[in-house]
Amino acid sequence: MILGIETSCDETAAAIYDGNRLLANCVITQDIHKKYGGVVPELASREHIRYIVPIVEEAFGAARITWNDITAVAVTRGPGLVGSLLVGISYAKAAAFVCSIPIVGVNHIEGHLWSPLFEYPDLKAPFVGLIISGGHTQLWLVRDFGGYQLLGQTLDDSVGESFDKVAHMLELEYPGGPKIDALSRDGDSQFHTFPHPGLKGDTYNFSYSGLKTAVLYFLQKMSREDITRYKADIAASFQKAALTVLVEKSIRAAQSHNVSNVVIGGGVAANKTLHKEMHRAAQEHNITVYMPSPRFCTDNAAMIALVGYRRLRLGHKDDFSFSADPSLKLA
Ligand code: KG4
Ligand code: ZN
Repeated sequence: MILGIETSCDETAAAIYDGNRLLANCVITQDIHKKYGGVVPELASREHIRYIVPIVEEAFGAARITWNDITAVAVTRGPGLVGSLLVGISYAKAAAFVCSIPIVGVNHIEGHLWSPLFEYPDLKAPFVGLIISGGHTQLWLVRDFGGYQLLGQTLDDSVGESFDKVAHMLELEYPGGPKIDALSRDGDSQFHTFPHPGLKGDTYNFSYSGLKTAVLYFLQKMSREDITRYKADIAASFQKAALTVLVEKSIRAAQSHNVSNVVIGGGVAANKTLHKEMHRAAQEHNITVYMPSPRFCTDNAAMIALVGYRRLRLGHKDDFSFSADPSLKLA
């Protein structure tokens, strides 16, 4: 019975997993960052301190268990905000020490890659994993549990960041991704062609800062009235540019590595148009796409508990000397 803790960014999360069933998956998304239009690291750490005990208690309540039932603790070690990670790690270490149970540090990205397992237990490696969030835009080749190769990543902004920044330009509330997703449904994605953020040639890398700047310049040439009038069309056109390369590169990566499964995780994976486009492209190329439902796409502790459980089973327990690693590598 493993307790998973996740505090790498602005979600304070706890989950209970017994290797078979997910007994609790609780998360508090910190609201405080809304008024700043982005995550403020120092505030995030303070909020984690506020929420960590209540969220674990909530998880225990949902799972109907007590500390006596917990046999191990898994906690996100990185990548993420150092102050935020430290709150979860310090709490997890204290819990493991007091209960005399093993502790294991987990890579947050590895959690995202295996997150579909809760809903698709038949998912098997090898697969291509696309991790798209506020912090990451990465394309992975997963050969097996522990065998990861980074195929490509963004060279500047993440895709989530570009959604948030463009949403801000359109005077939509943070986080902007869900707002642009909803607004785009009423918009014409052919309204304007923005530059595609995939680099030319064979690379699997991305570059999202140019797209953001292109939207900014486009808006600067428009009147306020027109921006209001065509807001949904601008959102849809931006979204098309932002998502098309993700679909293209994931499918191309799967084909050139001869794998038939693609996994998508991270907050942006909740996007409705991405779902539609990904499934359409996958069907065309005989590929199966695994996209977890939003509670497993966005940051959660269930995925940390799951990876922690598997690592413990392989004998990978940590001692108390490990610490937060903001840029922890997976491969
Ligand atoms: O994985 P996540 O919850 O947190 C991290 O960044 O690690 O991802 C948050 C990001 C934000 O940039 C948010 O705007 C974006 O995911 N997002 C979306 C959608 N829902 C969340 N982007 C596009 N469409 C959505 N439906
Ligand atoms: Zn994440």
